[in-house]
Amino acid sequence: MTMSVFSMNIINSVAVVTFDTPDRKVNILNLEIMEEFGQILDQLEEIGTDLKGAVIVSAKEKNFIAGADLSLIESITDPDKGAAMARKGQETFDRVAALPFKTVAAIHGSCLGGGLELALACDHRVASDASETFLGLPETQLGIIPGFGGTQRLPRTVDLPEAIKMITTGSPVYSKKAFRTGLVDEVTKREYLMDAAMAAVAGNLPVKKIRRKNMSTKIEGLLEKFSLGRKIIFSKARKAVLANTHGHYPAPMTAIDAMEYGLNNGIRKGLAEENRLFGQMAVTDISKNLIRVFHLRESFAKGDPSPAAGINNVAVIGGGVMGSGIAALAAERGMRVRLIDRSEKALGAAIKFLNSDVQKKYRKGRYAGVVADWVPTRLSVDTQMRGIGRSDVVIEAVAERMDVKKSVLSSVVEAVSDTTAILTNTSSLSVTEMAAGLQNPERVAGFHFFNPVDRMPLVEVIRGENTSVEHIDRMVAFARKLGKVPVIVKDSPGFLVNRLLFPYLNEACLLLQEGADIQKIDRALLDFGMPMGVFILLDQVGLDIVVHAGKSMLEGFGERMTPSTILGTMIEAERLGKKTGKGFYTWDNAGKRQPDPAVDRLLVPHVSGKKTFTSDQMVQRLIYSMINEATLCLEEGVVQSPEAVDAGMILGAGFPPFTGGLLRYADAVGAKGIFDTLSGLADKVDVRFKPSDTLGKMADGGEVFYP
Ligand code: NAI
Repeated sequence: MTMSVFSMNIINSVAVVTFDTPDRKVNILNLEIMEEFGQILDQLEEIGTDLKGAVIVSAKEKNFIAGADLSLIESITDPDKGAAMARKGQETFDRVAALPFKTVAAIHGSCLGGGLELALACDHRVASDASETFLGLPETQLGIIPGFGGTQRLPRTVDLPEAIKMITTGSPVYSKKAFRTGLVDEVTKREYLMDAAMAAVAGNLPVKKIRRKNMSTKIEGLLEKFSLGRKIIFSKARKAVLANTHGHYPAPMTAIDAMEYGLNNGIRKGLAEENRLFGQMAVTDISKNLIRVFHLRESFAKGDPSPAAGINNVAVIGGGVMGSGIAALAAERGMRVRLIDRSEKALGAAIKFLNSDVQKKYRKGRYAGVVADWVPTRLSVDTQMRGIGRSDVVIEAVAERMDVKKSVLSSVVEAVSDTTAILTNTSSLSVTEMAAGLQNPERVAGFHFFNPVDRMPLVEVIRGENTSVEHIDRMVAFARKLGKVPVIVKDSPGFLVNRLLFPYLNEACLLLQEGADIQKIDRALLDFGMPMGVFILLDQVGLDIVVHAGKSMLEGFGERMTPSTILGTMIEAERLGKKTGKGFYTWDNAGKRQPDPAVDRLLVPHVSGKKTFTSDQMVQRLIYSMINEATLCLEEGVVQSPEAVDAGMILGAGFPPFTGGLLRYADAVGAKGIFDTLSGLADKVDVRFKPSDTLGKMADGGEVFYP
């Protein structure tokens, strides 16, 4: 029998099974590989009790097993076939669980999905403490549920609330936390991983005193043991999931159903229910879209790292909200960072931010051992423009004013070498204008992060008129080095994301002028799937910022971007949004909001009618306006593809992933429907709705963005 993926050695009566998919950086599970693993199991079963145990280990540098091959899941169109596929996987892992000797998974690197389900079928799990080791069941994030026994074995391994959390959020845990919760039995340095696995086979495991300590509360521990108690835990979990998903993502709820059924009816019946529900989820449009979005993100996130290989020294000028986040990110990604801000207070806050962020991640196990101590030492600060001479990249994040930025950049250029990359985090100013007059403008580009820097994955890499192609390539690789997803955008007002967001935000205000209601508009958008109501977003961004952006939109694109007069009135009344405690809502110090009748009174002079709108009408006005603007961006070459629009809007503006993206959604509605609705609005309400030529052509020819 020729094996291509697995090899087996028997050492002191312990079978060591090594998983190594040829020509791939990670191990994945597909039909052939599962088949081959089945043959390994044949051998193990045949040798039987002559063996003391078996250890499953990966030969990959940073991966145990990354999960099932997604193309398998994408190909499922029949729920019964999906269920049958899951059943086969379950049966294979059941054979692991039934082996007549100790089985141990020795885990280094990412251990996800089917990989963790295999590890859960083993008697023990030992893991390395490396930061690249994390364990999780991310299936619900792809619109499916764990299908190889995960919904049954995880709640039998860790406490129920922890199992529910891992499965419904899909978030992985580092090995430090996995040890605390009992998911792994031992954590060790990578070098000792095999020794630890061998010791585990022999029954030598650390005393598990702390293992069950994580039980969220003692009461929950007791609750879990009784079916009534479990019912309470599950009902709490369902409420939490609903609050998060607003009913748009069925998979986390379905995973809860599978867990509950299994705990009430035993693992055998539970597994059968799991594979049935897996089949149901795998055929949904939502799952297909979420998998597309996963590929979409990967396609922008992955690329040749070599252009950024020499970037080790980064200077950040301006250490406010954005600059402090950027500095922390670069330091955590291993670069030496020089942060300049004229305000000592800002510098102090930036240092504090980095320290507490590192501590937080250390507690979670993101940093192993002393590495956490090193990170803050990579950051040095100054109130003067000093010590930036050896920077490979300088990122400017000072106040959003052309004169300030120009003066800062001309001092930067004097201090650094001719080849130092110069980046601006401007959100609305022209990169081309900023670069004009600077030496070597070909090395100047926009590098537009989103707030908060650590959580928003997108960076718009802005190509100014004089920016060179090599420089853009280098900055794209640099964004990836920072762990961000770069999308290349032409220098034009609002770039991509803010350009599409402005008509969306503005349209909400214009709807108010026609008599719509703040709460009802927000509700309609939440029901559509946006992560928050549009007026909440306005308050969070800050109305002064929106007005500022609006000015450059109006200058750049004319009439259709005319800002609603409401914005000016709100600013005059000092209602700038969350940061001033008052905007379209009132906000308390804890960040909680309340509707405020004072706003309605304030807006009375602006309201010209008393129209009532259906939810669909409100959603169409806002979303179709963005779609229309996106087609103009494509016409003008602001971005090159519908994929870039969708990646930008999902990763930079939180456009709902289950739709597949703004233009995927447009395809689902159909260009004709959008064109007709916009034409109707242009006739009856205002020319700003005039559909683009692209939409017209697409409507005529029945075309789609994604053929
Ligand atoms: P901020 O006001 O929080 O920080 C600006 C910092 O720059 C302050 O700490 C100030 O002391 C410092 N500064 C000003 N002039 C300086 C100079 N000449 N030399 C040294 N330091 C100087 O502003 P924020 O929000 O961080 O914005 C910075 C840039 O990032 C702006 O261009 C803004 O448009 C852009 N941006 C902001 C986003 C946000 O949501 N806040 C999102 C994306 C981009």
